[in-house]
Amino acid sequence: EKGGYEHFMLKEIFEQPRSIMDSMRGRLIADQNHLMMGGIREYANKFVAADRILIVACGTSWHAGLVAEYLFEEFARIPVEVEYASEFRYRNPVIRESDIVIAISQSGETADTLAAIELAKSKGATIFGVCNVVGSSIARASDAGAYTHAGPEIGVASTKAFTAQVTVLTLMALMVAEKRGTMENSRLRQLMVEMENIPAKVEQALKLDAKIQHIADVFKDVPNFLYLGRGYNFPVALEGALKLKEISYIHAEGYPAAEMKHGPIALIDENMPVVVIATKDSSYEKIVSNIQEVKARKGRIIAIVTEGDDVIPDMAEFVIEVPAADEALVPLISVIPLQLLSYHIAVMRGCNVDQPRNLAKSVTVE
Ligand code: F6R
Repeated sequence: EKGGYEHFMLKEIFEQPRSIMDSMRGRLIADQNHLMMGGIREYANKFVAADRILIVACGTSWHAGLVAEYLFEEFARIPVEVEYASEFRYRNPVIRESDIVIAISQSGETADTLAAIELAKSKGATIFGVCNVVGSSIARASDAGAYTHAGPEIGVASTKAFTAQVTVLTLMALMVAEKRGTMENSRLRQLMVEMENIPAKVEQALKLDAKIQHIADVFKDVPNFLYLGRGYNFPVALEGALKLKEISYIHAEGYPAAEMKHGPIALIDENMPVVVIATKDSSYEKIVSNIQEVKARKGRIIAIVTEGDDVIPDMAEFVIEVPAADEALVPLISVIPLQLLSYHIAVMRGCNVDQPRNLAKSVTVE
């Protein structure tokens, strides 16, 4: 059942080229200019008219929601707020009938997310579910939705569900942008083609496994990790830190790289590993300065960079090169080495990676 892999988590990490492809199947055919999500079609007018999107989710799904915020705002020019379902539901939030609420959940059973959409529904908002489990409670409670076709995710730490969520949300943002006319046609076409190339790039990124094992061996005994990213890679930093915490029990924090100087920089010394996701994008120069700030304080830098980067390798202790991609699509690739890093560190520490202590695959308590 683990298909020759030692753990479900590793199997699921390696399934991602396939699960991403499955999540696009029938929805995107770039050379035919076909981009269609069945679930959105009926609600297309609502999305076109929406003056706000609220995203509710928990954990890793909330991180996918953060990526979606960047995507919907950049492509479709709709303001987005990303909410922890557990905070949203208890704070008497402002919800309007014109709001579209996107609920993201792998299991479709997360109690807080379900309660958040029930609340939003009672205020007349339109609920759109992005779930992996077919027929789950959240899928059923939604007005419409799009399934992620990641297949069953058994490992408690979410991996392929995250990339499937980001895939579906990217297609949704592109489709809404097309309908709203908020994106240049050439960029839209280019992104459609690039989306189709993502599975092959993820396959490439998976080849980094041996190198990442070596890095894991170097850092497996440290007590703390910091993860930094900017822009589209900021949610990836949060996700990398969460993956490490939950399966290896090493304390880790994800931060927007520019926020470091407002506090966390005080933590940096020669013992602090800092994973910086610094792919070539519009904030590249800025993140290079952030790397310099870490280096000046002797932090141990592990950098995720774009293939061929010739600047950061001189500054970092370890460099992991991932294939180049449009910055809006990079999370699908840059998250892969972080999943592998946490997996290998956890295995080397003798942790039960598929069933970490105190965690459950679906959190049906509030
Ligand atoms: C992290 C993880 C959890 C879930 C969270 C939401 O690896 O597994 O943080 O992402 O409990 O679960 P779903 O997506 O099922 O609503």
